[in-house]
Amino acid sequence: MTARKRYALVGTGGRAAFFYTAIVEDFKETSDLVAFCDVNQTRMDYANAKIAPFGVGPLPTYKSEDFERMIKEVKPDIVIVTTVDRTHHTYIIRAMELGCDVISEKPMTVDEEKCQEILDAVKRTGQNLRVTFNYRYSPHNTKIRELIVDGAIGDVTSVHFEWMLNTKHGADYFRRWHRDKRNSGGLLVHKSTHHFDLVNFWLGTQPATVFALGDLMFYGRENAEKRGVTEFYSRSHGSEHAKNDPFALHMQENEQLKAMYLDAEKEDGYFRDQSVFGDGINIEDTMGVMVKYRSNAILTYNLFAYSPWEGFRVNFNGTKGRIEMEVVEASYVNSGGDQALEGAVKGKKITVYPMFDAPYEIHVAESKGGHGGGDPVLLNDLFGKPDYDRFNRAASHVDGAMSILTGIAGNRSIKTGLPVKVSELVQF
Ligand SMILES: NC(=O)c1ccc[n+]([C@@H]2O[C@H](COP(=O)([O-])OP(=O)(O)OC[C@H]3O[C@@H](n4cnc5c(N)ncnc54)[C@H](O)[C@@H]3O)[C@@H](O)[C@H]2O)c1
Repeated sequence: MTARKRYALVGTGGRAAFFYTAIVEDFKETSDLVAFCDVNQTRMDYANAKIAPFGVGPLPTYKSEDFERMIKEVKPDIVIVTTVDRTHHTYIIRAMELGCDVISEKPMTVDEEKCQEILDAVKRTGQNLRVTFNYRYSPHNTKIRELIVDGAIGDVTSVHFEWMLNTKHGADYFRRWHRDKRNSGGLLVHKSTHHFDLVNFWLGTQPATVFALGDLMFYGRENAEKRGVTEFYSRSHGSEHAKNDPFALHMQENEQLKAMYLDAEKEDGYFRDQSVFGDGINIEDTMGVMVKYRSNAILTYNLFAYSPWEGFRVNFNGTKGRIEMEVVEASYVNSGGDQALEGAVKGKKITVYPMFDAPYEIHVAESKGGHGGGDPVLLNDLFGKPDYDRFNRAASHVDGAMSILTGIAGNRSIKTGLPVKVSELVQF
C-alpha cells in the first residue's frame, strides 16, 4: 500500500487551485494538504476559503520569508510550486535541501543559470523533482506518441508546428507579470515549454541546435500607436478608456478575479488588469523557431498571441508517411471561470497519410477536464494510484530542463541573431 503523502503549496494564485482543490476533493485517500505559502495573505485566505467546503482547514499560512519555517513546522513530503516563474528555482532548491520532493509547475525556471542551479540541487540532494506537463496527458497528444512509437510513419524527419493563442487567453500574458521577460522568460519559455516538451515527448528526443526570431508586433503602446490608437490607460480598473477596449479585463465583474487579485492588490501592488497596449512590455508576441534534434529531426515552429481562435496545428513527416493534427481549444482567462475549461478541446482531427496507402482518420475519445482531458489524468498520476504508463508521461527535471532550454536558446538566438547549441547552456 502506498503511504499517504503530505503536501505544502507555495504560490496560491490561479493555477494553485487546480492542485489544492484536487487534493482535498478527489485524493483524500492518498494525500493531505498541510499548508499554504505566498507573499499575499489575501490569496492564501482565499485558498483556505475554497477548501473549507470539503471539510479541510483552515490550513496554516506562511509568508514567503517563512518558507523554511513552514517546512520545519508542517513537515511536508512534497512541496508544490505554483509561484511566478522567476521564483520557482528558489523554492524548488530550498525544498529539496530541506529533504522534500517537489512538484513544480511549468516552466521549471526561466533562464540557464537558474536551470543549472536546479540541476545541481537535484544531484546534491537526491530528491525527486517533477514538472507538470499536462499536455502530454491529453488523449490526442498521447495518441500521437503511440502512433510514432508504433511506427505509423517510420522515422520522423521533420515537424511543422503552429500554436495560436487568441485575443482572450493570449492577451492575458500581456496584462500581468508575464509581460516582463525577467518574470517569465517570455512566451518562448513560459508558454512554449509546453510545446517544446510535446515535441521532445512525441519524438523521444532532445533539442540540439536552436535558431529563433521574435518581436513584439501587435501588443504594446508603440504598435497600437502605429495603428492609429490615441486613447491609452495603464490599467482597466477605474479607467474610462478601458470601457471601449475589447482587450480590457474587468476584474470587478468576476467574483473570483475580484477576490483573488483586485481585493489582494493592496498588499503587493500586483495589478492583474494592465492594458495590453501599455508601456513596459518586453516579451515577444510573434515568434518563429527552428530546432535540430539529436534524432536529426527538424522542427519549424510558430507562436503568436493575437489569433482569432485558439489551438494548434502540427504535422509530422516521416520515412513512411505523414501525420496531421489540428486541435481547437476553448477560450479562457486564467482564474476567470471554470478551470475545466482551461485548454478544453472544442474540436480535433488526426489524419495519417501512409506513403503508398489511403489516408485514414484516428478517432480519439473525448475526455472531460482541462487541457483536452489531460488535467485529470495528470492529477491521478501525481496524487492517486496510477497504473503502469507505457508512454512514461511523468516528466522529470531533465524533461523540465530540456523543454525550457529550447526557449532559452531561442531567447539567446533572438538577441544575437545566431544559432545556439543547447549543450552549451547547462551541464547535466
Ligand atoms: N500547466 C498549466 O496549464 C498552467 C496554467 C496556468 C499557470 N501555470 C503556471 O502556474 C504558475 C502560477 O501561475 P498563475 O497563473 O497561477 O499566476 P498567479 O499570478 O495567479 O499566481 C502566482 C502566485 O505566486 C505568488 N507569488 C509571487 N511571488 C512570490 C514569491 N516570491 N513567493 C511566493 N509566492 C509568490 C503570487 O502572490 C500569486 O499568488 C506559473 O508558473 C504558471 O506558468 C501553469
